[in-house]
Amino acid sequence: MTPQPTAPDAPSSPFPADFLWGAATAAYQIEGAVAEDGRTPSIWDTFSHTPGKVLAGDTGDVADDHYHRYAEDVALMKELALQTYRFSIAWPRITPDVTADALGPVNEAGVDFYSRLVDELLAAGITPAVTLYHWDLPQALEDAGGWTARSTAERFAEYAAVVAERLGDRITTFITLNEPWCSAYLGYGSGVHAPGRTDPAATLAAVHHLNLAHGLAASAIRAVRPDAAIGLTLNLAWVRPASDSAADAAAAQRIDGLQNRVFLDPVLTGSYPDDVLEATASVTDWSFVRDGDLALIHAPLDVLGINYYSPTLVRAYDGVGEREEADGHGDSAASPWPACEDIEFPAQPGPYTDMGWSIDPRGLTELLLRMHREHPGLDLMVTENGAAFPDAVGPDGQVADDDRIAYLRDHIAAVGDAIAAGAPVRGYFVWSLLDNFEWGYGYSKRFGIVHVDYATQQRTPKASARWYAATVRTHAAS
Ligand code: NOJ
Repeated sequence: MTPQPTAPDAPSSPFPADFLWGAATAAYQIEGAVAEDGRTPSIWDTFSHTPGKVLAGDTGDVADDHYHRYAEDVALMKELALQTYRFSIAWPRITPDVTADALGPVNEAGVDFYSRLVDELLAAGITPAVTLYHWDLPQALEDAGGWTARSTAERFAEYAAVVAERLGDRITTFITLNEPWCSAYLGYGSGVHAPGRTDPAATLAAVHHLNLAHGLAASAIRAVRPDAAIGLTLNLAWVRPASDSAADAAAAQRIDGLQNRVFLDPVLTGSYPDDVLEATASVTDWSFVRDGDLALIHAPLDVLGINYYSPTLVRAYDGVGEREEADGHGDSAASPWPACEDIEFPAQPGPYTDMGWSIDPRGLTELLLRMHREHPGLDLMVTENGAAFPDAVGPDGQVADDDRIAYLRDHIAAVGDAIAAGAPVRGYFVWSLLDNFEWGYGYSKRFGIVHVDYATQQRTPKASARWYAATVRTHAAS
């Protein structure tokens, strides 16, 4: 067939016709209904109910009440032309009586909720993409050691198999873990996330058991649903040294190892990076890695999810003056980084989002191209990208979030640049569909393209939601 000539003024889009456009959320951040239909507490229930842990004492008890309003929310997604929706399943709804030794019975009421949600999505023509772990570990497992314990990884794989059995007839993409860096480093290192521990050795044990959980779950899902696409979502860092000095380059290399390669290498190449093992030898001997673990972790990966928000600037700290910790991971006396007392994170140039995070879309292009270069043939998805701004509903009933539109426009263009340069990026998810519980910041930070009035649960699509819907429609039609 002769290719159709392109009209001279038609913008040529690098996005392929089957590119998936969506939005993302996570269970604890939107569902509420924490004690309903048999759900038991997760580490985030415990943490948020502990005074002083979450800003203003906010909890996920009600959140966006999505558990009761899911049908309304799916209708909204349809109105916004979303093609796919990434949500997470709350483990404590599926097997509420799990212990370190046994998964316990399946809670049918919990499964039913997600089954209804999936049916609603499919009826609206929206493809579900499921995350199995977005940080709400059953509290009983934390009491037995949490991610520092091998049994948590084993139970996670059994839970993953249950979800694949019950919902895998209608779900084709399973993402095992969301941002294991945060689970390990913020949960067990700096303690600004649940369970709030501050122990560098525990942080690295958690890293390994999260990697193991991914590998075991990938195989368990495949055994039940051989055709499912299995993914893992990482918050990869675009790490840059503050200067071209050798010391800053070495500092950047260490952070790259601890944030990026300690997760990528075992999954994609079956080994831990030597420089990471050496750099952390003062903290742990890594004896929690057993023979055969790396082969289990190195299970085939169908898609790598990348969450990107902001760049990372790194400098060697010479011990003079106050050490800068502007790494955007919350205020804490403890550093999330094991064995990095000689590294600091200087403030970065603006503009900034309401999180204080520097805006630089180049990082997204760089990360996608790096993955394409270092792991050719691996499908990529941007499973989260977005920005918090202090939005308010105006007197005209509208939310004029031009700053978010600019952020999304520039980052989507950055994805387009990576595709144009050959990176196999299959989809893009805005974080987030709705304003929601932003972990340690509670409800003070609004990431949604849809505004939520927490007093009334009124949803108001922001200008960015209309803009995103138009963008999706334009690409879908081209
Ligand atoms: C990444 C996390 O996956 C999500 O839960 C969080 O709300 C966003 N980043 C924004 O911080």
